[in-house]
Amino acid sequence: MAKTPPGSRASWPTDWPTDVTIVERAPAKLNLALHVRARREDGYHELETLFAFVEDGDELRVDVAGEAGFTVTGPFAAGLAGEGGNLVLRAAAAFARDVAPLPPLSIDLVKRLPVASGIGGGSSDAAAMLRVASRIAGIPADDRRVHAVAAALGSDVPACLTGRTALGIGRGEVLRPVSGLAGTPVLLVNPNVAVSTARVFAAWDGVDRGAIPEGDAWSIARDGRNDLAVPAKLIAPVIGEVIDALDRLDGVTVVRMSGSGATCFALFDAGAAREAGAAAIRGAYPGWWCLETVLT
Ligand code: C5P
Repeated sequence: MAKTPPGSRASWPTDWPTDVTIVERAPAKLNLALHVRARREDGYHELETLFAFVEDGDELRVDVAGEAGFTVTGPFAAGLAGEGGNLVLRAAAAFARDVAPLPPLSIDLVKRLPVASGIGGGSSDAAAMLRVASRIAGIPADDRRVHAVAAALGSDVPACLTGRTALGIGRGEVLRPVSGLAGTPVLLVNPNVAVSTARVFAAWDGVDRGAIPEGDAWSIARDGRNDLAVPAKLIAPVIGEVIDALDRLDGVTVVRMSGSGATCFALFDAGAAREAGAAAIRGAYPGWWCLETVLT
């Protein structure tokens, strides 16, 4: 697997500026609801999920100059140490192969989100890379070839590519925009336990508990479920403690696990309630990771 991004000076226009640094945010993804409907023949599961995004997350810094390179920095960089074939490099390679050539890129991934935590860090990083690559190549990021590359990289990557609140069906890659909830204060909490998505899906009991609710983002978040919470708690029982701790906070409107866990979130009716909630969680559980942020 490539350890540096693809790219060739020779195949790139000589008038491309060589002093450009592109900074692209890779926001955390939340599944405000996630209904698992069926196991598929291909090993995936048929889903209905409401994707949403927050203001904070990882960041990509891409220098379109000189040498190709890849570094990972930031508080969760160690979580990716020794990992071959980072999704960011795979995204750049797939774009260069299937969409358009890229110049040599020097990429720094600032990893601020916990790894394997149900908030789409890797998927959002890959999607950010595809947005940067599209910009460099002068191709709209909603081009169907870019979407196809995203879907091949992972089920959540197309949603992360758009970065908008959307209903995801199929594997999660078929998207329909949904309005509502922008600006809602949210607290993310992870008990510092990495959980394998494949393991959690495999532990799902196969029972279809019904369709995701109809309506705007608020009614789906309020009335929806996360069907992966029960299997995730079998693998990491501490998730139950996180949910209970968030449920006890004042001013909470929705508490749920995101994706396959272990990160859980609470939506609040006001920013002050979120601040008080975050302070209470940090005081009682100093080892847990907390992020106070806002839905976009
Ligand atoms: O698509 P992605 O590579 O992110 O998925 C990781 C794993 O999660 C898959 O290998 C599969 O085990 C599981 N998964 C699933 N059904 C989905 C999405 C993911 O079973 N809709």
